[in-house]
Amino acid sequence: MKICVIGLGYVGLPIYFQAKFKGFDVFGFDVNKKKIEELKDGITEIKGRIPEQGFAKFKENDFTFDVTRLKEADVYIICVPTPIDEFKNPDYSFVIGATQLVIDNGKKGCLVCEESTVNPGTMEEIVMPLFDKANWIVDKDYHLVHCPERIDPGNENYEVDNIPRCIGGLTEKSLEKGYELYSKLIDAPIKKMSSIRAAEMTKIVENTFRDVNIAYVNQLAKIADVIDVDIKEVIEGAATKPYAFMPHWPGIGIGGHCIPVDPYYLIEYSKHKGLDPKFLSLSREVNDSMPKYSVGKVQEILNELGKPMKDTKVLILGYSYKANVSDERETPAKEVIKILKERLADVKVYDPFILNKSEFNNLQDALNWSEAVILCTAHNEFVDNVPKLIKNNVILLFDGRNVFDKELFVKKGIRYKGIGR
Ligand SMILES: NC(=O)c1ccc[n+]([C@@H]2O[C@H](COP(=O)([O-])OP(=O)(O)OC[C@H]3O[C@@H](n4cnc5c(N)ncnc54)[C@H](O)[C@@H]3O)[C@@H](O)[C@H]2O)c1
Repeated sequence: MKICVIGLGYVGLPIYFQAKFKGFDVFGFDVNKKKIEELKDGITEIKGRIPEQGFAKFKENDFTFDVTRLKEADVYIICVPTPIDEFKNPDYSFVIGATQLVIDNGKKGCLVCEESTVNPGTMEEIVMPLFDKANWIVDKDYHLVHCPERIDPGNENYEVDNIPRCIGGLTEKSLEKGYELYSKLIDAPIKKMSSIRAAEMTKIVENTFRDVNIAYVNQLAKIADVIDVDIKEVIEGAATKPYAFMPHWPGIGIGGHCIPVDPYYLIEYSKHKGLDPKFLSLSREVNDSMPKYSVGKVQEILNELGKPMKDTKVLILGYSYKANVSDERETPAKEVIKILKERLADVKVYDPFILNKSEFNNLQDALNWSEAVILCTAHNEFVDNVPKLIKNNVILLFDGRNVFDKELFVKKGIRYKGIGR
């Protein structure tokens, strides 16, 4: 049996190596020729134990952009993007494109495993009709499962090998084939779902859970600002309850390819089915408001300090959407910078993980240049060193991730403001 992993990004590259570790005959296919050339040279921005050990162990890797090679495979694991368009509508074009590549170039009798995050109904209403149109018959010409990936880039405890999975099949036979494969591929439990749409919805529910809970604490942070309590302290207090409370933390905004994107797949599909899930839309709205809310707070404090936003030197610390990674997809820093520039601030960025966005060679130079600092990403380098290196050329530190001890800045005569504290 030969596996082809289609789409070699944050999800596809680890699963490619996991298949190699497990002794499968596997190759990786991607339409991005540059990415393939880089992967052949062992170059990738994707960090983690599995890709690192994979590149270290396997000197011979099989990465290709040649579509004609798809006919070699018996199993296709599809890991392509599922973004939203400018109107926040789901964009299925990559899933459709990858499926069509399998139909046009693949081998009949194959197992197709979709790992991309999609709303319930996508396999039955978008993917299956593509096979129907090509006269491929389910259980004869193809088998189809959805087995959503849950990887959390940067998480050292959980990677593709030890994260449990849920799997749903288009038919019972598809499910059996998919279950057999994933049971050999992954070391963690695989839960069989009663339908493919239940598997699709599971992943969306997980990410929407994060979105609504973060919206809740972002809303609480705004309340804390008007009633003058420290929301971080309050959440830490609530988290001492040993049951029925799970802490989530407010912040300057949500980024990445999943949490600010996936809920729209559920929202739009629900609307399509005649139900407007207002609670989910409102959560998106609250979370999307955080960059503007934060810049508003910065401007308020600058005004109090007698400094107009115009021409103030504002340093953005961190451009990636989360700590200690270089992924900048949907990063809230982009929106923060846009709003600051609209308000005529003099904005510069420093992110040690994204050198092409950084306008300084090191943290000290960046801090020395600035008058106001906005922490967008809590990279370890910032958490460990900003309190030591910052001097009182900086008049305001805005802690967009609530990671600093306020007193350390106050002692230096620097105004500190966090999110809801
Ligand atoms: N990034 C995460 O943390 C994460 C976690 C769990 C699930 N997911 C989901 O997994 C899916 C993939 O996400 P990702 O982060 O790996 O995306 P990515 O952008 O890192 O990688 C996707 C890859 O697919 C390639 N591609 C696009 N169309 C293709 C086609 N027709 N044929 C072959 N290759 C094609 C792209 O060139 C790219 O290299 C998405 O649905 C995402 O929501 C992502």
